[in-house]
Amino acid sequence: MYTVGEEEIDAIAKVIRSKALFRYGVGKECDRFEQRYASYLGVKHFALAASGSNALLAAMIAVGIGPGDEVLTPAHTYMATATAVLAAGAIPVIVDVDESITISPAAIEAAIGPCTKAVIPVHMWGAACDMDAIMDIAKRRNLIVIEDSCQGVGGGYKGRRFGSIGHIGAFSFNFYKNMTCGEGGGVAVNDDRLAKRVRGAIDPCHFYWNGRDDEEKPFAGNGARASELMGAMLNVQLDRLDGLIAAMRAEKKRILSGTAAFGNLGLKPAPMNSADHDCATHVMYSLPSADAAKRFVKVFPSVIAGKTGRHTYTEWDQVLIGAGAAHPAMNPYLMAANAPCRKSYSKDMCAASLEILDRTVMVPTNPAHSESQITDIIHDIGVASRVALAGMSMDEAELRSDVTVDVQKFDAMGRDDAAA
Ligand SMILES: Cc1ncc(COP(=O)(O)O)c(C=O)c1O
Repeated sequence: MYTVGEEEIDAIAKVIRSKALFRYGVGKECDRFEQRYASYLGVKHFALAASGSNALLAAMIAVGIGPGDEVLTPAHTYMATATAVLAAGAIPVIVDVDESITISPAAIEAAIGPCTKAVIPVHMWGAACDMDAIMDIAKRRNLIVIEDSCQGVGGGYKGRRFGSIGHIGAFSFNFYKNMTCGEGGGVAVNDDRLAKRVRGAIDPCHFYWNGRDDEEKPFAGNGARASELMGAMLNVQLDRLDGLIAAMRAEKKRILSGTAAFGNLGLKPAPMNSADHDCATHVMYSLPSADAAKRFVKVFPSVIAGKTGRHTYTEWDQVLIGAGAAHPAMNPYLMAANAPCRKSYSKDMCAASLEILDRTVMVPTNPAHSESQITDIIHDIGVASRVALAGMSMDEAELRSDVTVDVQKFDAMGRDDAAA
């Protein structure tokens, strides 16, 4: 969340005063948002859900993922990407990320086995996966592509919006996302039949609210319907989105050009798959070593990608211990249909990813940063580079005390872990 104010309060108050808090047949805000966001993304359908996790599960159910299927999942993503696969009854197979800290196309290709049905590229920290390569592999190897765009609201790849490139896309609108209604999410899809299945997965009573459909029979599922309060807030947030992204892109550009000179010390921008189209919520640097990254974040308050506490497979406890569901009979790891799937995990199974993640440092941007704050950030990144990469002492380095950083964004990513 970057900006929330009187407009959101007014929009929500209006819904409360109207007493029209239910979306189907009563209110209009969810419908209006779905149409507007679908057109923003350039897709035919967008269906709101209660969370990004629900949206991912609905996407998985819609495309027919279930027991007997493996789904390729990157080593670096919020654990909901993998747990949504399990919730659908399938098995997540963890594959390496590359220097962009998004899923490696080469690792996807190498990981495809007889049970592999889908891949989930995750646009981590708003930065694009290599979608051309991924879509090419998917076409050749017959994989379904489910774009986890939960962290990619407002961003895109080579001019196309995240969530509109794969076969289906999922979004989160939780508190930490670029557009928020507190908690929320949704699914973007072009195919009409898949859209009906998505809505059925989000709301088992969907066929009652919207009319029965002879072609698409209902199936049982858990409810994750959005409320009109969410729709009203998202309609306001959508108006703000492009302005926020433009401000963060401008900050990222300034920081990158202001810190280019420290490249000779070893401060290199992480490679990006679509540098002009990312959300620019962070400026990422690939440092020479994990030790250098640790020294860097001690001087400049930033985050090591591999140390957020919850975004790397080594922290997905349920997956690592094989607890794929609360009830043993519903646990995909124990299902006969999943017997041929690959189900063994270890903390060092993606050592190459861990090596990259532990030396990738993320400096958060913020649309509220002033020009002089950005100047101070550039200055202090230089100080941190001299201390962390050139062995200068803190006494020699001149740190500006008035640098302001987005503490909330740090905390959301586990600053304590990062500093450790
Ligand atoms: C990459 C990714 N996938 C899925 C989710 C799940 O979204 P939610 O928290 O709305 O359930 C998140 C949320 O942080 C996420 O970052």
